[in-house]
Formats: sequence, C-alpha cells, structure tokens
Amino acid sequence: MCGIFGCILKNSNVAPIIHSSLKRLEYRGYDSVGIATLHNGTIHIKKDQGKIDEVHRIHNLDEMEGNVGVGHTRWATHGAPLKVNAHPHVDCTGQIAVVHNGIIENYSELKEELENAGHIFVSRTDTEVIPHLIEEVLKENSSASLTDAVLAALKRLCGSYAIAVISAKEPEKIVCARNESPLVLGLADNAIYCASDLTAFLPMTNKAIIVNDGELAVLSGSNYEIKRISDGITVVRQPKIIDWTPEMAVKQGYPHFMLKEIHEQPETLRNTLRLQEHYLDLMATFLDRANEVFLVACGTSYHACLAASYMFSKLAFLATYPVYASEFVEQHGKSVNIDSTILAVSQSGETADTLAAVTASQQRAATILGLTNVIGSTLSRVSRVYIGQQSGPEIGVAATKTFTSQLSILAQLAFRLSKKRGKISQDEMDCLAEKMEQLPQIVEAVILMQEEKVKALAHKYKDAKIFFFLGRGVNTATAYEGRLKLMEIAYVPAIAFPAGESKHGPISLIEPGFPVIFICPKDGVTHKTLIGNMMEMKARGASIISIIEEDDEEVKKLSDDYIEVPKGIPEVLSPIPFVVPLQLFAYYMALEKGLNPDMPRNLAKSVTVK
Ligand code: AGP
Repeated sequence: MCGIFGCILKNSNVAPIIHSSLKRLEYRGYDSVGIATLHNGTIHIKKDQGKIDEVHRIHNLDEMEGNVGVGHTRWATHGAPLKVNAHPHVDCTGQIAVVHNGIIENYSELKEELENAGHIFVSRTDTEVIPHLIEEVLKENSSASLTDAVLAALKRLCGSYAIAVISAKEPEKIVCARNESPLVLGLADNAIYCASDLTAFLPMTNKAIIVNDGELAVLSGSNYEIKRISDGITVVRQPKIIDWTPEMAVKQGYPHFMLKEIHEQPETLRNTLRLQEHYLDLMATFLDRANEVFLVACGTSYHACLAASYMFSKLAFLATYPVYASEFVEQHGKSVNIDSTILAVSQSGETADTLAAVTASQQRAATILGLTNVIGSTLSRVSRVYIGQQSGPEIGVAATKTFTSQLSILAQLAFRLSKKRGKISQDEMDCLAEKMEQLPQIVEAVILMQEEKVKALAHKYKDAKIFFFLGRGVNTATAYEGRLKLMEIAYVPAIAFPAGESKHGPISLIEPGFPVIFICPKDGVTHKTLIGNMMEMKARGASIISIIEEDDEEVKKLSDDYIEVPKGIPEVLSPIPFVVPLQLFAYYMALEKGLNPDMPRNLAKSVTVK
C-alpha cells in the first residue's frame, strides 16, 4: 500500500503542499518518498529512500518550483526501498513522470517488450513500465494527447493501480486513473488535488469526488473530467461534502485502525494472490529440497506457522516443525545444522526472538528463508530467499490483515510444493486453485454478513470471565489466534487447545454458562469429532458458540450462538475466513469494555527486545 498525491495550484509552487499532503499519507507507506514538479517545460524530481522527514531534511522537498506536481510515499512491494526504486518514475526522455499505488501483475512481460523496443529501465519496480508505455504510445502517434496515451497504456496493464501522471508536453495537466487501488479528487477555489485518500487534502478542502474502478480523471486548471478507461466515455459526477475530521479520515472513517485493517483483508488477500511467481517457486524449491524444515515465529506469526505445518503436510506430504522463536535455541539450537532449513515468519521482520533464532541457525550453516511484510527489514536482508507479503503497513497493534496474508502465502507455497511433488490429483489442485482465488470475496462476505452478529455476540458475552477456543487440525491454529486476539485486545483470559485434548484435563474447568468457542468447518474429517467435543461440553452446561459454514444445521442445533461463513471452503484454507469473526469478536469485546483496540496496554507493534 503506498500513498499518491497530485496537485495543480493557480499561481504558487505546489511542492510544499505535496510535501505536507504526503505526510498525511505516511501511514500508507514510509520507506521512501519523492516529488516531481513541472516548471518551465521541465520535470524536476526529488526522491530518496527513508521516511519523509529524513528525505526532506536532506533534499528540502519544499524547495521545488512549479504549480503542477505529483508525489509518492512508498511501501515497497517490488524492489527494495532504495532511491532508485522510489517514485516518481520517468520515461526515457524524462518528460513523463508517474506515481503509482498497486501491483502490476504483468510488468515482467511489459518490461521485456519495452526493453526490446529500446527502452532503458533503471529500477526494479513494476511501476516503471507505466511511463515507458505512455512514451511508446506517444512515439507511435505524436498527435496523441497525454490522456489518449495514458488510456492506451492502462489497457495493457493487469493488476491494481492508482496512478497520477504529468508530462512536460502538457504542463498544465495531471492525468490520474484507478483500478482497485483507491483514488479521490479534491476541489478547492484555487487548486485541484488527486490522492490515495482524502486524508491528504482534507485540511485544504472537504469537497471530494470518488474516482471509481476503471475510471480516469483529467485535471487541468481547477477543472476535472472523468472518463471510462474502457471506452473513453465521459462520466458526470458531482462532488460530495465530507464531514470527517482529519483524524477520522486517516482511518478512512473507521473508528480504529484495527477495524479498518480487518476490513482491508479482501484487498490484502487479493494482493497476496499477485505475488511474483518467481519468488514463490524459488522458495518452494528450497522447501522441496530441504532435509528438515523449521517454521519459526512469535505470536500471531507463530499461529500462521502452526497452520502452515498442516498445509505442508496435507498438501505436499512435507513434515515441517513450527517452533516458538523464543524457545528455538533451547529446543533445537544444538541439532540445527547445514541440512536444516528455517522459514522465519515475521510481519515486522524485526522481532528480536525471531532474529535470534535465525542468527543461531545461520551460525550452524542452516538455510534461512523469510516471509515478512517489510521489504528492507532485517529478516528480508538475512534471508537466502524472502517473500514480501504486500499487506501494506499495519498500524493496529493486533495483527489481523497480516495474519491472513501470511496464511494465504503459506497456503500458496504448500500448493506449489504439492504440484511439484505430484501429491494431489489434478481435480483437487483445480478446486484448491479456484477456492484460493475466491478467498478475498469469501472474507468480504463474512465481514458484510456477520459483523453485526459478532457485535451482538460480544455484547451478550461481555461479562464472561474466561473463554475456551477449540479447533481441530489446521484450525487448532485458528483457535490459538482467536484466543490471542481476545486476550491482547479485550484483556479477557482465554484458553485454546486442540479440541481432542479437552478430556485430558481442561474440561474440568467447565461449569454451566462457560463459553466455549468452536471453529468448525464442514470439510475434512474434523467435523464429526468436533460435534462429539461439543456434546461433551454441552453435557456439562457450557455455552456453545460455533463458527460454522452456512447451512450446517447439525451444529446449529448444538449451539447457543453461531457465526456463519460461506460454505464449500476446503479445510486446509479454512483458517483464513474462519479467523475473521474471531478478530471482530475481540475488537467488539474491547469496545464493550471501553478499551481502545489500537492501543492495548503493555504491548508494542514490533517486539524488538528479547
Ligand atoms: C499479534 O497480534 C501481536 N501483536 C504479536 O503477537 C505479534 O504477532 C508478534 O509479536 C510477532 O510479530 P512479527 O510478526 O512482527 O514478528
């Protein structure tokens, strides 16, 4: 997730406005920043890696002439956070500058085609293909307008984008467009703006226009024209008056970052399905050849590893060993060796315990693989191969969207391994591939259809003193994650364990009204046994709360309350949609207790101390 901004002022320099607006977009990404302005028929650019304040201190972003310009604050997905990869990106002539938020899935083919046509690329980003595509169109048809050239270029792109383009040939204009990534226009008396979200320009104007998917907007002077990318037809759209405060706007109207990030999961899951095939295949190859594989992480990331151990086993017949990073050296420090492979999972890439386990393993010549949300983090730098999970910054202390992104990527890895090893039938593979693609809209449906029910559930159980979270198989991990969310956000004691363990001790805690949450997908062999576990709890008076597939009448009858997710989800993928009601439950329980879900006591977003 990155932040883009564009601005045309009537008669003053735009750079200070762009700089201050990028600051308000910094929560969308902050590993590099850049500004391009148009002055006297030339494009001037200042950009570098680092946070906005650091780059401003070095380059003075305000000191750039020109009343038209664009800016960008980056969260690296393709290409490390280096100056050369910072936006804006330009064409060969330096007369076209582009800022972009999103993922161009077919950039490799486009880049090869453009290089064969003589274009020179300097960065490792997917974005850089856009200015060169525009340049190529203008080269082939010198009478084409910038708008025509951008329209033609956009038709070549696959993936998500929100872009803003300026050209020295049409210096009074900004052409912006979107597909999936957000884009809004701001209208003021002496200015017009385009931005990733209205946080950027809300202090200057509350008059906004939403640009919809598949639309392009041409800004010139203080006017705008919106066109459909598919056929260039002009779309009439009136501005809306926004009554958000700037603080609300940075959360896009959500009361807390945690809720915003739970709701972002359909988008972040779509992004994880756009990973670069090359890195997924490379990591799958390392795992395939590994003698032994440890999955090492902390907290929520550990729960992703626990789920992954079931995925790798069920899909690829690969045994992997999930280990708490804080215990790794004690448990395996002496046995890990040159034949060991460590897949470390850390959304921050800076968790001290995880890095300590990695360092200890490196010292014994083990192979280090990494899965992280922060390209340029320590984990990404020490890994032999790493995958950037492309979730965008997660501001809420509780891991939500980064967890489901991790699960999606680990499932994709297991899936590739199973293909490589020929362990599941073609039919099974086709079904899994189809369901993987559907996960974003399945999660969207869960949020849309069940959020109010979960909110009511939190109100009903707001005074409960303790909960059980029970699952079987891969959803043991989901149970652990649901417990962690409730404890860390709502400070409610909770216990999670494999449901089959109940009779080996924990069931002694059950008293009438004791709330037990079951994660109970229909697919797989666990459904039947889970029903048995529910009955043993019910027989002792427990209140049964079930997360089930819709139309699971058998479990509904046993449940005091239930939350439904769309049916037909393969068990191995079920943690992704089944965890969402548990995230929402923790969030609304915190609200019931008057707590701030974004700022839980005693916790930090990244635990960089051991
Ligand atoms: C999750 O909600 C917590 N904030 C915490 O357990 C977190 O998952 C853990 O500290 C690991 O962080 P990492 O993924 O950045 O390594």
